[in-house]
Formats: sequence, C-alpha cells, structure tokens
Amino acid sequence: MTAFRTLDSAEVKGKRVLIRVDLNVPMNDRVVTDDTRIRAILPTVNEVTKKGGKAILLAHFGRPKGERVSDMSLAPVVPVLQTLLGKPVAFANDCIGNDAASAIARMSDGDVLLLENTRFHKGEEKNDPIFVAALAELGDIYVDDAFSAAHRAHASTEGIARQLPAFAGRSMQSELEALEKALTAPRRPVIAVVGGAKVSSKIELLNNLVTKVDALVIGGGMANTFLNAQGYNVGKSLCEHELADTARRILATAADSGCAIILPVDAVVAWRFEARAPSQAYAVDSIPADAMILDIGPHSIERVKSAIDDAATLVWNGPLGAFEMEPFDRGTLAAAQHAAARTRDGHLLSVAGGGDTVAALNAAGAADDFSYISTAGGAFLEWLEGKQLPGVEVLRRG
Ligand code: 3PG
Ligand code: MG
Repeated sequence: MTAFRTLDSAEVKGKRVLIRVDLNVPMNDRVVTDDTRIRAILPTVNEVTKKGGKAILLAHFGRPKGERVSDMSLAPVVPVLQTLLGKPVAFANDCIGNDAASAIARMSDGDVLLLENTRFHKGEEKNDPIFVAALAELGDIYVDDAFSAAHRAHASTEGIARQLPAFAGRSMQSELEALEKALTAPRRPVIAVVGGAKVSSKIELLNNLVTKVDALVIGGGMANTFLNAQGYNVGKSLCEHELADTARRILATAADSGCAIILPVDAVVAWRFEARAPSQAYAVDSIPADAMILDIGPHSIERVKSAIDDAATLVWNGPLGAFEMEPFDRGTLAAAQHAAARTRDGHLLSVAGGGDTVAALNAAGAADDFSYISTAGGAFLEWLEGKQLPGVEVLRRG
C-alpha cells in the first residue's frame, strides 16, 4: 500500500507516539463486553513499544458532546488493555493540558498511556485548531489506527495528522488493504451481499455498489421494498412503500451498469414478529396478505449460494433476514457459511463489515473463515458508499 506511510517508515524509538485508536467498545455497567476493537490495536501498540516508543493512546467513547460525562470515561478499558498487552497501562484524566502532560513526562520508553475521552472537549468534533494544537504538543509523531473513526473529520482523527508526521497503524493498514482488494482493485467477478431493514439508510450505498460490482444480492427488510417496487404484494412485511421509485431507479442503474440484481424468489413468512413463531415459505408472488416476510426462502438460499460460487470477491454488509430470531436466521447463516467455506477452500476473497454484520457472521460461526472482517460500522458504510474518509485522506502521501 504505497499511497500511505505505514509504521515501516516511522522512527519511534524514544519518541512520544500519539496513537489514535477506536475504543468505542460495547460496555455494560462500565465493563467491556466485547474486546474486538481492543484486540485490533494490539499489533500497533506492541510494535511501537517494542521499538522503544512511548505509546500514548487517544480515543473517543460514546457521544458526550463536549461535556465530561462520567459514565463515558475510558477508564474501564484500562484493565482489559493491560490483560491483552500483558503490561501496565497508565491513565490520564484528561487528553490535553497538565494531566496529560505530566502523565507523559512520567513515561519511560516502551510504556503505554491511555488518555481520557477526546470527546469530553468540544474542540474534538469541531476539529478546532486550538484543541488540535493542544493535542499535537503532546507528541512527536502521530499514528492513526482507527479506521472505524476515519469517517469523522475530528481533531484526533484529521486535524492532528496535519500538525505531526502522520502514519497509518497496522490495523488501519490492514483495513485499507482489505478494502482495496475488495472493491478498488478486486479480482472479478465481484458479488456484494447487502441486507438490513431499510433501503432509506442504504440508498447511496446501493447506488454506488451497482456501478462497481458484477452481482448484488439484496436481502433483509430492504428486499421487500424492492419486491413491492416490482409489483409484488408483500403483505404485512416491513416495506418502505414511498421508496418504490428510488428502488426502481437503483434497479435501472444496475441494468445500465451490467450488475445482476439477485432478489429473493421465495420468502419465509410468519404471522407474528417473534422467535419461533409458526412460519412457512412462499414464492414471492404468493405472499399471504396477513403475513410478514422474515427471511429469504430455501430457493433463494440456493440462488445466493450459486451466485457466491460464481464470484472471486465478496463484500458483505447486513443480515438477509431477522437473524436475531430463530429460525429466521437461516438464510443469513446458510449464505455466510457458504461464503466462509468458499473462502477456506481458496476460491473467494471475502470482506465484511458494518453494524449487525459482524454479529451475524459470528453467530454463523463464519467470521473466522472470512478473509477480512472490518471493525468499522459507519466508516465501512461510507466506504461502501464510495465516499472519501477524512481520516484516511489525510494520511495519503502528499
Ligand atoms: C463507531 O463506533 O462506529 C466509531 O467509533 C465512530 O463513532 P461515532 O459514530 O460516535 O462517531
Ligand atoms: Mg457508531
């Protein structure tokens, strides 16, 4: 990845290295409940400390809007980080000013320090130059390892990279390399699998993907909107009737771009939105008027699997049905397991990310076999929309 300066070219020995990480992790009662994002930063933190740099971690948590909100402190991350790194991690009660500066002054080469939530300051989200300067004076070089926060043009993700020598960390580097292989310069044919509840939240994403990929599988609640736009009756299913024109335009763009659209041909319906509710599969032209679609049906699963067989590269975002309720997770599980098997056998490069996707792939036991699982939610979606991410752009070699 020549377009970005990586840790390969960073001289960190004896330096104060400000590392932007994403520690916006799920927490319950100030206890970390999923450490995926913490694990993702270990290679960079370990590399910096082993090379004799002082690793000073900058991160946000939640959306405190510039106020000091005590239950949005990053302090609960410290014990988890210590365990995973196998060494002590110091904590400073503020990310700028005296608290931060004196904690940094106490560091020896190879030490790790976590600074308190950057969003406790209004200047963070405003990318305020005064706040940027207060951050920048704490370090000699800047390493961004937070791809999942790179869609934000904030002080700790964008402004600071203009003030200090800036490098992509190893997690950022892996994300960028995986995304490049999946969509920028992929092996073809490329298939995208997009699910989730609503078309409205993914219009830009769908519009961008149909011009880039060879086949697009649409599942989840959003498929109902497309089926309705094609004239099918979807009964009581979740459906954005007002988006019928939008859906038809997306289909027209796909046709112009030579992108095959794979919509369900059958669906599993139920009469109650609840786990293990009595259910039955119907062809999409005979959905009962009093029922709702909760998953793709068995014929659709076979079509998705064979479309995956035809592809060399796969990008996945969103579940194909109401996967959090059995048995309506079947379509998502079957497709994910099939993609995982094709990947394991060396036929497919598979990349997934965004919101519920990782949970669905974990539930399918498929996550480990995917080529790459992004830690990002919103940033992954914006990247699928074809947008430039400010935190990535600023790292490009100028
Ligand atoms: C995330 O959790 O997706 C990132 O940490 C960004 O958080 P944000 O959506 O609050 O900016
Ligand atoms: Mg978010």
